[in-house]
Amino acid sequence: MIYRQKFGEPIETQAVVNLNGVEDCSDKYLEYFKVESGSKVSLRRTLKDGVAVYGLGESTRGINKRGWSYQSFCSDDPLHTEDKRSLYGAHNFIVIAEEKPFGVFVDIPGKVDFDICFKSCDTLEILTDDRDFYLYIITGESMKDIVSQFRKIIGKSYMPPLWAMGYQQCRWSYPDEESVRKVADEHRKLEIPLDAVYLDIDYMESFKDFTVDKSKFPDLQKLTEDLKSDGIHLVPIIDAGVKIEDGYEVYEQGVENGYFCKDENGENYVTAVWPGKTMFPDFLNSEARRWFGMKYKYLTDMGIDGFWNDMNEPAIFYSEKGLEKAWANIEDKKGKNIDLYGFFDLRDSFSKLANSEDDYRAMYHDMDGKRVNHYKVHNIYGYNMTRSAAEALDEIRPNKKTLLYSRASYIGMHRCSGIWMGDNQSWWSHILLNLRMLPSLNMCGFLYTGADLGGFGGNSTRDLVLRWLALGIFNPLMRNHSALGTRNQECYNFERPQELAEMVRLRYRLIPYLYSELNKANDNYTMMFRPLAFDYPDDKFAQAVEDQLMLGDELMIAPVYEQNAIGRSVYVPEDMLLVLFDSSESFTTRKLEKGHHFIQVGLTQVPVFIKKNAVLPLCKSAISTEKLNMSEITIIGWVEDRAEYKLYTDDGISVSNKGEKLITLSAENGEVGCDSGNIRVEDGGVVFE
Ligand code: NOJ
Repeated sequence: MIYRQKFGEPIETQAVVNLNGVEDCSDKYLEYFKVESGSKVSLRRTLKDGVAVYGLGESTRGINKRGWSYQSFCSDDPLHTEDKRSLYGAHNFIVIAEEKPFGVFVDIPGKVDFDICFKSCDTLEILTDDRDFYLYIITGESMKDIVSQFRKIIGKSYMPPLWAMGYQQCRWSYPDEESVRKVADEHRKLEIPLDAVYLDIDYMESFKDFTVDKSKFPDLQKLTEDLKSDGIHLVPIIDAGVKIEDGYEVYEQGVENGYFCKDENGENYVTAVWPGKTMFPDFLNSEARRWFGMKYKYLTDMGIDGFWNDMNEPAIFYSEKGLEKAWANIEDKKGKNIDLYGFFDLRDSFSKLANSEDDYRAMYHDMDGKRVNHYKVHNIYGYNMTRSAAEALDEIRPNKKTLLYSRASYIGMHRCSGIWMGDNQSWWSHILLNLRMLPSLNMCGFLYTGADLGGFGGNSTRDLVLRWLALGIFNPLMRNHSALGTRNQECYNFERPQELAEMVRLRYRLIPYLYSELNKANDNYTMMFRPLAFDYPDDKFAQAVEDQLMLGDELMIAPVYEQNAIGRSVYVPEDMLLVLFDSSESFTTRKLEKGHHFIQVGLTQVPVFIKKNAVLPLCKSAISTEKLNMSEITIIGWVEDRAEYKLYTDDGISVSNKGEKLITLSAENGEVGCDSGNIRVEDGGVVFE
């Protein structure tokens, strides 16, 4: 059951698209929350000891969110440390795991705080920044049921083309054609599978969207075609800010048509990002949205079929006003004896220049005739940038899936694209953060997602990359990315690259399963990744697990995320078959009883846990997804009675081809069967009982 309560005059975010079955709350929310309203609205509830809270999509800390105060305010923050309250996305959906669990979605495009037993150890407080929003309360039989009801009202998720399930290599930046070709060649030479290479900001002319620097990329179309003929897609970045420069078409058209955000006097609002002075397209205006979206055609005409949208929180380095204030502060203090507070103030005038609240408050949108201050709608800006791309790409590439993902997001954007988890660091703790975000993002409809493998900021190490890949092989988006100035992090840049290659090959073997699970999670409004607590709500050990996940209906994953570890402790919530891959081709199996186990996992090994009466379908690895033969499947599993698996197959690219075929694989009485195609048991793979 879903109840909706309207507060004030909410701005329609279009997060919810299906109100069928949603009932008017008629004050029922007062049974759930104590409410105080003034200029803000506070919803408070006492939580008993041990009651867990799940959700909030992309956020810091644990799977169980209890014990911290989070804030939904899309933030360009590259240090995802535990003290942070906001990351790039605003995902205001939580499930409270009381005896009768219930879900809460606060649909507000501005700031909202989720204090989950931080100020007071037994109080949940949701505090909205203004009085205009919708509150949804969702009741159901279980946490899975609540999530599924929520997902139905927010609509189906973006589904990527099959090639986007392949391995992708990025760096800020591969600065020219030669370096891009080298990345492709090195992978092919060592037979490390690869489906995409990325272009970060340096491919553009002076960081101008929809331009190509011809001195570095003399013939981008030819490069795109050459790579594609080898199964590799080129994926350029698109930034939210548009450079101010006379003669630059995008800028001039935007000014002429009034498509940029305005300041309080109705003048174009000037800030600065990569190219220096920029203006932000008003993505909340439908005409501007369409205008910007159609610009992607410049690149699709060259054969490009994948994009990542960046800096769309939006990230602002400084505004003219902010910078003036900072210079004035220096001038004022120049030559004076500056004490502690004076020094802090001087330092802050620059360190707090970027992404300042003042700048967001000084910006205005024209929401199809309604003037709205940016601060009130901050969290749907990135969503609408990506919506502009998604809607236009549907028109530009009819019936074709395009790879598209964004950094900033709000619920609703999950229908347009995926997200990546932003600028993490080459830290061991960030493997765990990657894992913990997967289920909470799935709760909010973001199914195509993943983190920068190996870590974006800082220098990575061989062992960190290997361990991270061992989790990354399960992320729908499997991309290795690293920042300017950091150590080269491509698999071939480490010793014994074949060991890293084997990890990537194992990923390709898993694609039939992962692609099926991704699409099924979308079709059935389920979560591809779940906390153990969702599947075993009555098991107190399962509830406490923060470093393992259920994957699909068959698997559990438990990656190693500590430096120099020889293995890890694993809680097995029911009898399972441990499959320990030594390489993409060889593995050992061991039955594990429900309970706690220590599992030895070497640096090049990957453990996978398969439930009883379940099978894992695998195909042979290949150097790219287009070379995968998904009609020749082998299976691994533990079959006591009967196991069945429905393999999802489509042509991997057409929108209309969706979910056309389901192949049933079965195993019973020592025999395996398949209703079409070839199937065989992986040597030593299926344990029958
Ligand atoms: C910030 C993005 O998060 C990162 O992935 C990218 O490499 C840099 N911007 C440069 O474009």
